[in-house]
Amino acid sequence: MTEKDFVPAIPFTSLEAGNVHAEAPSNIALIKYWGKYPGQIPANPSISFTLRNCTSTTSIVFDNRSTGDSGVSFEFLFEGQPKPEFEPKLHTFFDRISKYLPFLENFHLKISSSNSFPHSSGIASSASAMAALSACLMEIERRHHPDIAPEYVAMKSSFLARLGSGSACRSIDGGMVVWGAHKGISGSSDLYGIPLPDRIDDVFRDYQDTILLVHRGQKQISSTVGHKLMEGHPFASQRFEQANRHMSEIKEVLVHGELDRFVALVEREALTLHAMMMSSSPYFMLMKPNTLAIIERIWEYRKETQVPLCFTLDAGANVHLLYPGMYQEKVLQFIKNELVAYCENEQYICDQVGSGVKVS
Ligand code: DP6
Repeated sequence: MTEKDFVPAIPFTSLEAGNVHAEAPSNIALIKYWGKYPGQIPANPSISFTLRNCTSTTSIVFDNRSTGDSGVSFEFLFEGQPKPEFEPKLHTFFDRISKYLPFLENFHLKISSSNSFPHSSGIASSASAMAALSACLMEIERRHHPDIAPEYVAMKSSFLARLGSGSACRSIDGGMVVWGAHKGISGSSDLYGIPLPDRIDDVFRDYQDTILLVHRGQKQISSTVGHKLMEGHPFASQRFEQANRHMSEIKEVLVHGELDRFVALVEREALTLHAMMMSSSPYFMLMKPNTLAIIERIWEYRKETQVPLCFTLDAGANVHLLYPGMYQEKVLQFIKNELVAYCENEQYICDQVGSGVKVS
């Protein structure tokens, strides 16, 4: 598929008002996207697993618009309140997607959104929010062209979500999702996410992600700025090559259920992501002392118990603990006994692999 395959060939014959609703999950990257080219093209492929509990819910009431003004006409409420600070990002998004959804010019959109997780938790909400919004917009297209294939709906929803926030394109499908062209993964594309086509080992089917909320404050550097700092970064080309190698490796690991290699690969990716931040110009650091304290404790615990528990990090201080479902009780006990002490207000969120966006 190319970009022009997402420009609708047939205009709507009639414009019906209505409302659409979508619930989209967040996702956690195992191989990280960090660095991009113009047009939201990733500098390297990435893979994540879709979560189940951390979700954004969005609804859109759409009605015919009589005026001939160009551009998308919308109003936006977040948790029932206007959010002027979100509007520039929404305007950029609508500017990028309007050629793929030309019917939007005929509607006025009333968008309402909310998150299942606390807003100030430091959990990135742009992935789930942009995925939910894109799935709603795609549902408007599907209602007017009910014969379009479900595979196309998923691909185009992901394509649109990418134009809102890169990682959002991995929040449409469930399970393991790949974004970015990789020679060893058939069907992979820089334009949208696809479910990993290979059959993964059962051990990864109920993988857990317990998110330790270390620091809930505003990040001092946004992901968008961080991506930009990969331009001219002294280690950029080595990093992009490494991510490509890691994609080949993780595919094998997932198919064969090799937990030791999984742990090593996922932790190396997390630390490399933060190493890129600490060696960019200007340099910055998003980990906090408690992030490091938790990592050290995880390493000791793994040595003591042989439980294949590992960590990953997003662009923030929170620690994601990843482990197979069969160890849930044991790991939760470890968290309660030892790790909550490092969390702000002793807060953590239990999540696990989920099945992707739900639209109605
Ligand atoms: C560290 O998708 O938030 O979470 O495309 O600028 O919106 P934009 O960036 P974003 O970056 C996510 C970076 C990451 C790694 C990942 O999820 O792969």
